[in-house]
Amino acid sequence: MAVKDELKALLEEHRREFLSGAEIAESLGCTRGAVWKAVESLRSEGYKINAVTNKGYCLEDTDILSEESIRAYLGKTEGLDITVYRSTDSTNIRLRELAEKGAPEGTVVIAGAQTGGKGRLGRKFFSPEDTGLYLSILIRPDMTAENAVRITTAAAVAVAEAAEEISGRQADIKWVNDVYMDGLKICGILTEASFTPESGGLEYAVVGIGINVYEPEGGFPDELKNIAGAVMKKRSENDRSRMAARVISGFMKYYRTLTENTFLESYRSRLIWKGEKINLISGNMITPATLIDVDEKCRLLVELENGEHKTISSGEISIRKQK
Ligand code: BTN
Repeated sequence: MAVKDELKALLEEHRREFLSGAEIAESLGCTRGAVWKAVESLRSEGYKINAVTNKGYCLEDTDILSEESIRAYLGKTEGLDITVYRSTDSTNIRLRELAEKGAPEGTVVIAGAQTGGKGRLGRKFFSPEDTGLYLSILIRPDMTAENAVRITTAAAVAVAEAAEEISGRQADIKWVNDVYMDGLKICGILTEASFTPESGGLEYAVVGIGINVYEPEGGFPDELKNIAGAVMKKRSENDRSRMAARVISGFMKYYRTLTENTFLESYRSRLIWKGEKINLISGNMITPATLIDVDEKCRLLVELENGEHKTISSGEISIRKQK
């Protein structure tokens, strides 16, 4: 095992305790210089290691997002190729590049921060460092465009279930793909697909999931303050890795049975604003309606003001509650 990995194990074993450089060097059978180099290398991976003169080194924060810790929570899931970046422009962009080069289904790109996180409808997705989880999963389903909405809705269910399991709080879904807790958005999903021109079938889809696991230090920026929330109230050990593992395995489980709609009951039971007045928003057009439910194709069922019932596919439409 490399000195870096041995040091990580030792510091994790003595979490929040100071160990002197000499103590560590003796225990690992290396020089103090090698200890310092290993500390620097772990820091560059995002580990927060405090160094204090006459006291030594101490691992402060143990919520580390790494392939190793994610795999530890994934258990025996096979066929996943996971890459974790400390920061990247957008995990969807990274994964689309891999998809175009022929990467197989089950390739996953994860980041602890994004400098160009993409949201739906051309918006940006706020992706600060150290508090969120940004992940994209590549799938190559044998499926028509019409059925593709199920991919996103299944992902929303996987996130809601993971967030509930880890936080013990209830998670709701706003059609089509936003996950909420206590009325605040904790996750957004952007699925980007490539279609085969001849058949119109899906060549691949990149399912991009952004989760606010913790509130950023200093809170969310003003424009998100009343909209965005976080899954966890306080930091705890490996929550982001646990969340990543739970979301990936939950999504893959539903994905394997996508056409059987195994996720639909869970989706419906979490759907917010049922029976309430909403606005359907498409560009500048706002249409008032009452939200009824979603159908078996995950289309939104609404009643318009003239009493007409309408079925809406996700496309460019978003919904907002009437004030
Ligand atoms: C939305 O709420 O509008 C969708 C947001 C989707 C954000 C995720 S974060 C991981 C992946 N990479 C991106 O650039 N976007 C998605």
